[in-house]
Amino acid sequence: MSSELLSIRGLKAGYGSVEVLRGIDLDVVRGEKIVILGPSGSGKSTLLKCIPYLVRPWSGEIRVDGLVVKSDPATLRSVRVSTGFVFQQYNLFPHMTIIRNVALPLELNRGMSRREAEKTALSVLTLLGLGDLAGKYPLELSGGQQQRAAIARALAIDPKLLLLDEPTSALDPELRYEVVETLYQVAKQGRSMLIVTHELDFAEAAADRVVFIDEGLIVEEGDARDVLERPRKERTERFLRRLRSRVGEPHSSN
Ligand SMILES: Nc1ncnc2c1ncn2[C@@H]1O[C@H](COP(=O)(O)OP(=O)(O)OP(=O)(O)O)[C@@H](O)[C@H]1O
Ligand SMILES: [Mg+2]
Repeated sequence: MSSELLSIRGLKAGYGSVEVLRGIDLDVVRGEKIVILGPSGSGKSTLLKCIPYLVRPWSGEIRVDGLVVKSDPATLRSVRVSTGFVFQQYNLFPHMTIIRNVALPLELNRGMSRREAEKTALSVLTLLGLGDLAGKYPLELSGGQQQRAAIARALAIDPKLLLLDEPTSALDPELRYEVVETLYQVAKQGRSMLIVTHELDFAEAAADRVVFIDEGLIVEEGDARDVLERPRKERTERFLRRLRSRVGEPHSSN
């Protein structure tokens, strides 16, 4: 088994005629946790979405666990089972209970029976401290609880790679910490994670590598502490300084 889990080469993507990603190369080895930072509009979400083809790349190559991602249904299904996605806005189905939200992808993508899927769902929810909320509907939960349920849903399929797009940025500061705690818990389990977040404490403590993106290109990457404490590029330095000066404000995401 190769140690390489994700490999991205020369990735270009955009919307309409506007190019957003202008040639991204990125590798993730098994067990690695990478934090992606960058200003608003730099292409972080687009990069994450290209991996399971939620956004179709213009050119370049993406490999997930050796498999070249393409748009045929069999490949997409396989890639989407090996990558869990957590969005900024949770994206839980409001008309389904939490346990159904977590169980559904197991039935659809893993071919489990409803009973088996709900058993697995409950065990993942319990692990994340949400067992008591399994029978509730998303809108009966706090934002932090909904986001943790979304993390449980992504984890339940046991993905090789977990993709998280600013999982705390929609939350009030007092609700963020519980999601960050959950992220620490997941990170400790050794799963590979690619996470867009401006939670610098988490990046410093849990990430192996930090990647800084600006205007669709990787400007700087390296060991998490090195990049955060001693950025080499002026753009990274300026971005980190701005971000740190905003800590405590309701929206410190760009
Ligand atoms: N569905 C879309 N259609 C058209 N343009 C889009 C779409 N999604 C994103 N864009 C544009 O692509 C650029 C990159 O967006 P993207 O969401 O990847 O940035 P980001 O780095 O995630 O920003 P943020 O920190 O605000 O989340 C932006 O200029 C954005 O307006
Ligand atoms: Mg984004």
